[in-house]
Amino acid sequence: MGQGFFVTGTDTGVGKTLVACALLRAFAGAGKSAVGMKPVAAGREGTGWADAEALASAGTVRPPSRIANPYAFEPAIAPHIAAQLAGIEIDIEMIGRAYEELSRLAEVVVVEGAGGFLVPLNERQTGADLAIRLGLPVVLVVGMRLGCLNHALLTRRQIEACGLRCAGWVANCFLPDMPCLDGNIRALEQRLACPLLGVVPFRRDPVPAGIAPFLSLGLLVEAAA
Ligand SMILES: Nc1ncnc2c1ncn2[C@@H]1O[C@H](COP(=O)(O)OP(=O)(O)OP(=O)(O)O)[C@@H](O)[C@H]1O
Ligand SMILES: [Mg+2]
Repeated sequence: MGQGFFVTGTDTGVGKTLVACALLRAFAGAGKSAVGMKPVAAGREGTGWADAEALASAGTVRPPSRIANPYAFEPAIAPHIAAQLAGIEIDIEMIGRAYEELSRLAEVVVVEGAGGFLVPLNERQTGADLAIRLGLPVVLVVGMRLGCLNHALLTRRQIEACGLRCAGWVANCFLPDMPCLDGNIRALEQRLACPLLGVVPFRRDPVPAGIAPFLSLGLLVEAAA
């Protein structure tokens, strides 16, 4: 069995896909086979699902979407509502089996969660239950903006409460300028009790290969062990 990571974030739209893809590129650069998974995608754009496509392109293996993206919904709305509208229920056990299949295709699997950590997936379960089922160390992407300290600390606490390891966090500077950025990063370094894997700078047109050098795989692998 290879290695897996569960990428969560402080919110939707904070850079989970960018960081997950950069991690895939970094593992590829380190000579590992790597594959991405987006178990629940909501929001079809043009011909497909942007996150699923980005993850498939960033990995070294192009996985069948049946296992890499078991649930893909047209509207960009909360997953459990999208599922209801489609007349189905998201089944975490099914995602778990897809993950196991995927993990036989590559040495490293990077799973991108939907939205934030506690996003509901069905009537009873949330993204946290999915992370627990997969049993993976979690990477927390913090979108650096006003309000992120609270979101980051709440998410960190919830990861802990689930009995999961937080293998590190990433400070993603996704706004062109955030006041007191350094002070905010320092505040989280002092309080998150897991390694800062990297500070990703603002880029007008960020590409995973360009972001990979800002992330420390060494720290990640060590913290996940
Ligand atoms: N460091 C950065 N610099 C500039 N733009 C960024 C940066 N990080 C992310 N973005 C942009 O912000 C947007 C959201 O990023 P991304 O899609 O990775 O977020 P996400 O957390 O995966 O969102 P979702 O919850 O929809 O899956 C994208 O347009 C992305 O290119
Ligand atoms: Mg995404």
